[in-house]
Amino acid sequence: MAAPTNDRLDRVGDYPFDRLRALLGPLAPASNRTPISLALGEPQHTAPDIVRRVVEETAALWGKYPPMRGTPEFRAAVAAWLARRYGLPAGMIDGDRHVIPVSGTREGLFLVALAAVPETKVGGRPVVLMPNPFYQVYVGAAVLAGAEPYLVPATRETGFLPDFTAVPSDVLERTAFAYLCSPANPQGAVASLATLKSALALARRYGFLLVADECYSEIWIDAPPHGALEAAAALGGGLDNLAVFQSLSKRSSAPGLRSGFVCAEAAFLDKFTRLRDYGGVAPPLPLLAAATALWQDEAHVEASRALYREKFRLAEAALAGRLGYYRPGGGFYLWLDVGDGEAAARKLWREAAVRVLPGAYLARTDARGHNPGAAYIRCALVHDLDTTAEVLGRLAATL
Ligand SMILES: Cc1ncc(COP(=O)(O)O)c(C=O)c1O
Repeated sequence: MAAPTNDRLDRVGDYPFDRLRALLGPLAPASNRTPISLALGEPQHTAPDIVRRVVEETAALWGKYPPMRGTPEFRAAVAAWLARRYGLPAGMIDGDRHVIPVSGTREGLFLVALAAVPETKVGGRPVVLMPNPFYQVYVGAAVLAGAEPYLVPATRETGFLPDFTAVPSDVLERTAFAYLCSPANPQGAVASLATLKSALALARRYGFLLVADECYSEIWIDAPPHGALEAAAALGGGLDNLAVFQSLSKRSSAPGLRSGFVCAEAAFLDKFTRLRDYGGVAPPLPLLAAATALWQDEAHVEASRALYREKFRLAEAALAGRLGYYRPGGGFYLWLDVGDGEAAARKLWREAAVRVLPGAYLARTDARGHNPGAAYIRCALVHDLDTTAEVLGRLAATL
């Protein structure tokens, strides 16, 4: 007799990259071209040398179990970075009460659901709000925590961001928490301070947690994106109802470091830490020391941002006026309207050896049978300038 498995996993669906492998696996890429992948949001910029240096210097710490809340130095470096980056009032963030490291924000954004979803809310099944399209971990987290995912359109008509204030009040009453991603993956839209304030005010009114996923905030062209902590500062009330997730994967081009943090109200963070004491993975101390040094340094971030700017200049030259091209407010994705994302992904692979992600894999079909990502492809501009110029040429010529 077969052993049972968690049947909630069957409702989560395949991860986008498995679906992409199934789509392109049977097809041969153009044989006269070197394959280039724009599918994965993995920066190919060289990781800062700070990482190598600090990990070497702290090698003695491999012999220690890392504490779940990280080190005082890490928490202080993060609190200082947040205060500088967002111009927060002195003392608003107390690193020791409000900050803990996570082993990449993917695990944090997943585990948040297990810490924030109660058995019931106002006597009903708890809801998790999320934009549609969205980072796929959100739906997995909601479903596996036993909550009902509630998808809020984030389409061209809504400025590519979800409008939580338009959600019916009976749903808001059952809401345990809401994911808000700004800059948004995949669309690159950036929430205004007014939008962030209204989302946080709504969370406070209806008693839910606003989970702000801000891992693309340091990659921008015209102006630094606002953060949800600025909304908290403007509204008053401390960090109530707020958890902000940040990562070094994109900011510092160090996805292999698996390092991020959450900055949140102390009541939530205590529960979150208890959960992680049982099932989380504390970042190893040498890696946490490297992360501490990265949060203290902006020079490598500015250099990386300059490179992304140059890449978007190339993208504009290749694609402006076509395929619904727009310059994202933040992040490194192109979200191109190609009519049929799966067909375009197949064509690009077969004719140009370029891998892109069909937008449908980053969205769910809504109640009216419409998948808001279906017409799009997502292209991650994560390569060096020469490769980027080459791949943009292939995109423009093929589509
Ligand atoms: C929107 C969003 N959030 C979170 C993550 C997770 O990043 P990491 O686990 O590397 O911190 C990603 C990674 O691509 C992402 O796109």
